[in-house]
Amino acid sequence: GMPKFVKIVEVGPRDGLQNEKDMVPTSVKVELIHRLVSSGLPVVEATSFVSPTRVPQLSDATEVMEGVRNLEGVRLPVLTPNMKGFRAAVAAGAKEVAVFASASESFSKSNINCSIEESLDRYRAVTSAAKELGIPVRGYVSCVVGCPTEGAIPPYKVGYVAKQLYDMGCFEISLGDTIGVATPGTVVQMLEAVMAVVPVDKLAVHFHDTYGQSLPNILVSLQMGISTIDSSVAGLGGCPYAKGASGNVATEDVLYMLHGLGIKTNVDLAKVISAGNFINNHLGRPSGSKTAVALSRV
Ligand code: HMG
Ligand code: MG
Repeated sequence: GMPKFVKIVEVGPRDGLQNEKDMVPTSVKVELIHRLVSSGLPVVEATSFVSPTRVPQLSDATEVMEGVRNLEGVRLPVLTPNMKGFRAAVAAGAKEVAVFASASESFSKSNINCSIEESLDRYRAVTSAAKELGIPVRGYVSCVVGCPTEGAIPPYKVGYVAKQLYDMGCFEISLGDTIGVATPGTVVQMLEAVMAVVPVDKLAVHFHDTYGQSLPNILVSLQMGISTIDSSVAGLGGCPYAKGASGNVATEDVLYMLHGLGIKTNVDLAKVISAGNFINNHLGRPSGSKTAVALSRV
């Protein structure tokens, strides 16, 4: 049945801002994270320790971590694609990290410049180093339903990568529809394959809203027992290496649906909307959240 409580993982400062054409100033990122944390969000993905030539938008990762080090009672994970990124993250004060594999061989190559198996080897090094330091590692699987070049991805491939990440010690596996092509039917098939090999309480879903399917996809995921949902304030986001991928599902829209269903989150919707207004004002464009737009009118 449906969960009574859902944990929201806010990915806007990372998945959102990594895709902005112009780099957002560090001070604006730091202020955004502070505002998101004050809304009660339990997890805010802060930045990535990735190649600055590949993702220049997040090349200030160390400075962002410096600006959020006084925040307490919140988890602020960062993306680490390899040991170099892991070491830099730890040096910058990160207390939690995330590794990101793909269910698509060609997306693995374009996103992190290695094969799926090579990436899993790298992540085994990261998870074992993290274990020694007591640092929890989240695992992402991207392209869980479709890939920009390979098309449909068979569910068993997603199950395979998710199980590998789980077995190496990732405490949670986030299943990413990187390009936003999933519909509820393909989501159910994919989740069935993954839930056969990883316990459902260790799974999260991560939808991009390219075709406007995120909320129905989240609803079927909830019905299958998923209780962790990734989302992005104001629907910021996309992926620089996934052509046509639009923003993540908006946190405000997810909260409106969950609260309407009587599911608790401990997140204050009005404060998330206000954090969204802050970043939208900076970016000079309207919110990507229908809920934020609707509630600003009344
Ligand atoms: P590479 O070019 O294969 O790396 O990149 P390399 O090991 O050959 O090194 C090349 C250069 O990068 C070297 O510098 C390294 O030192 C440096 P040089 O000697 O040329 O001056 N380097 C690094 N610098 C900083 N931090 C590091 C690091 N590693 C190497 N960690 C690499 C491999 C994985 C690093 C690169 O391809 C990369 O950074 N990719 C990141 C791509 C990315 O961030 N994509 C977006 C996130 S994934 C996503 O959005 C999907 C998700 O949201 C889920 C979903 O939606 O499905 C998570
Ligand atoms: Mg994403």
